[in-house]
Amino acid sequence: MSLYEMLGGEQVLTSLIHSFYHQVYHDSLLRPLFPDDRHRVEQAQFAFLTQMTGGPRDPNQPPTSLAMIHRLLPIRKEHAIRWLELMEIASLDTIPNEEARLQLLERLRIGATNVLRVCEAHQMD
Ligand code: HEM
Repeated sequence: MSLYEMLGGEQVLTSLIHSFYHQVYHDSLLRPLFPDDRHRVEQAQFAFLTQMTGGPRDPNQPPTSLAMIHRLLPIRKEHAIRWLELMEIASLDTIPNEEARLQLLERLRIGATNVLRVCEAHQMD
């Protein structure tokens, strides 16, 4: 069974993403980094997490590179920590399957570490 199915599929991912960005867009540290078009960000994140967890593939959706998306953003360690904290809160609220939740959070932790590394390398240029 894929992580996507273990999590609870489209319904659970949609709730997770709503809960996460609701917090992000009310967070004084993270909000300034994000564009006003929250709907577009949520759609892109839904497509990304569907792909990452092995959900149904959209043939029109090219594989996304986290490094490409984020490399020009002024992301520092405190942003990465807050991002992960809000994901953890959102996942506790919306993902009842603990095993699936922990697996997802582990993947996101690795992703956020990579994002931070790419951004810090760019800021030193
Ligand atoms: C390290 C902490 C992170 C921060 C502070 C952060 C911040 C951001 C910001 C500010 C944007 C909006 C970019 C824009 O359109 O102007 C964005 C987009 C996005 N982020 Fe992150 N991000 C982080 C980690 C991650 C991780 C781990 C993932 C993977 C799950 C991820 C997936 C995405 C996706 C899919 C988009 C939308 C890209 C698009 O517009 O197509 N981010 N992120």
